[in-house]
Amino acid sequence: MAYAQKESYMKLLIEKAEEAFRTTGGNPCVGAMLVHDDSILSIGIHEKYGDHHAEVNCINNVPKDKKHLIKESTLYVTLEPCCIHSKTPPCTSKILEHQIEHVIIATLDINPEVRQNGVAILQKAGVKVEVGLCEKEAQFLLRKFKVNHLEKRPFIAIKTAVSADGYAGKKDAPVWITNESSRIQAHKLRGTFDGIVVGYNTVNLDNPKLTNRLYFLPPYHNHHPIKILIDKDDKLKKDRSIFQEGKNIILTSTPLYKNPNPLTTEIVHIPAETWNWKNLFQVLWEKNFYSLLIEGGPRLQKSIVKEALWDEGHILSSNSLLGEGLRGPTLVGEEVYSLSLGDNTYRHVVPYK
Ligand SMILES: NC(=O)c1ccc[n+]([C@@H]2O[C@H](COP(=O)([O-])OP(=O)(O)OC[C@H]3O[C@@H](n4cnc5c(N)ncnc54)[C@H](OP(=O)(O)O)[C@@H]3O)[C@@H](O)[C@H]2O)c1
Repeated sequence: MAYAQKESYMKLLIEKAEEAFRTTGGNPCVGAMLVHDDSILSIGIHEKYGDHHAEVNCINNVPKDKKHLIKESTLYVTLEPCCIHSKTPPCTSKILEHQIEHVIIATLDINPEVRQNGVAILQKAGVKVEVGLCEKEAQFLLRKFKVNHLEKRPFIAIKTAVSADGYAGKKDAPVWITNESSRIQAHKLRGTFDGIVVGYNTVNLDNPKLTNRLYFLPPYHNHHPIKILIDKDDKLKKDRSIFQEGKNIILTSTPLYKNPNPLTTEIVHIPAETWNWKNLFQVLWEKNFYSLLIEGGPRLQKSIVKEALWDEGHILSSNSLLGEGLRGPTLVGEEVYSLSLGDNTYRHVVPYK
């Protein structure tokens, strides 16, 4: 098969696996695809932490009347098949059991128990194995997993809306910067993360809901991230609508902080001596937050950028001018994706390493 065709299968698979960015929790996003005679027989992704691996879902998804084609197919996988017993049996065994003779792997596993061993087991059994197709894209697919697994902390994304002259807001009044399409994109992002982080000033001024209510397509719909409110010195107004729905966690250093609504809100006390971003993120990691979307405001975001604690940026830019206000964070990095949204632009960037 032509290289370009193989590449298009793998890129499609990587895109599909990315859909489980949030639900895989601390596990990697992985996709598997069986291709028979130049047509796709089935696709499977690892959908949820603890559930079947992609290879198993892919094999299970083959229609009943086409099961006999499995052994004549090529298996594409975005990550080296596992060869250890964890929550599920090894995928290498599943591949051998189904007598698949050709496996194309985008990238090797980072787990030393699996790395190159999955490939070796398959090769020893006579399977033709190719490694490295769309390696860069497959590594990008693993970005959250690598941060979670290697650094034991949540993956940190910053989302900002900026005017054409670089402002993200006004000092003491709420302001709309982006158009409706940008707002839909922002809500889709909310469907992708475990938690949203905002500062007290944003809540006080904008009175936002911070729910995912404009994006209706699966799999990002129906998920409202937990709102994490940063309020070290008890400056948050307690009559804000954020406390009426969804779940909130307030991080504060203030002793005897008054909970505005114990039904929706948990107060987490962090001593002033240990109040810093690394520690705040560690507290959230221990509460099983694998990914956080830092929504604002700009002062809060800039303090995270200053400490180089961000892993990716989502920038929604409008073509209108604000003239004055609070400057947005400077998210310098490699652009991985961009999208035109009418007179707005969406850019997904990763910091240069
Ligand atoms: N365009 C956008 O994408 C966007 C998004 C959200 C909000 N906004 C706008 O931004 C404005 C509010 O922005 P803002 O920056 O004043 O408010 P904010 O981010 O809501 O509040 C500032 C927060 O940053 C914290 N902070 C500052 N430096 C810190 C550090 N070094 N370490 C830890 N925490 C730190 C502050 O804590 P301390 O005060 O305790 O230091 C406070 O919690 C509003 O007008 C809103 O409309 C724009």
